[in-house]
Amino acid sequence: MTTEPYRIDRSSNSRRKQVEDWLWGLDLVSPATRDLIVTAWVSSWASSPHARLEDMPFTHGGAFYPLMQHVNEVTRAGVDLARRAAADWSTPLDLDKLVAILILHDVDKPLLYIREGEALVTSQLYKELPHGVVGAMLLKELGFPHEVVSVVATHATNAPFHASTHEAYVLHYADMFAADHAMLAMGRQPFYQRKH
Ligand SMILES: [Fe+2]
Ligand SMILES: [Fe+2]
Repeated sequence: MTTEPYRIDRSSNSRRKQVEDWLWGLDLVSPATRDLIVTAWVSSWASSPHARLEDMPFTHGGAFYPLMQHVNEVTRAGVDLARRAAADWSTPLDLDKLVAILILHDVDKPLLYIREGEALVTSQLYKELPHGVVGAMLLKELGFPHEVVSVVATHATNAPFHASTHEAYVLHYADMFAADHAMLAMGRQPFYQRKH
């Protein structure tokens, strides 16, 4: 039995094609970054127990919301927010890094949220490393820049702190906006109505 949380999968296979067909925003980054983004998602998916991309859940417990949908919702919202910030506040925009962060922020979820029969549960790995950190490890191993690795590592709502870059700020609001849509769709309390 292996204790490795994931295995890098660089092979050119049908998984790559499916990931490329799914992810919104790949045309906004350089060919090299696009290749790395696809490898990251293929590696996480291939290392997970999910047979199909469509099976990957946004979270555990209760109703199912597709992770596939959440990821694209966050990327689209984040690109919109970043363009707004550039137009209104002249905030500089590194689209290559930002889009990588948006697409990859939840890349470890297929390894953390799994199925037990009909139920959506947490994996053993979920009890060993925090959400965000596993994704950051994978991205570091693939050679992503530190600014991408650090924002993914600290993006979770329960992370001890959030990075102070513009990309971290944009990801936070795009993620919360999309996550609250998912929460409402699943009949759960959205983040914006929580008090603590
Ligand atoms: Fe997340
Ligand atoms: Fe997210």
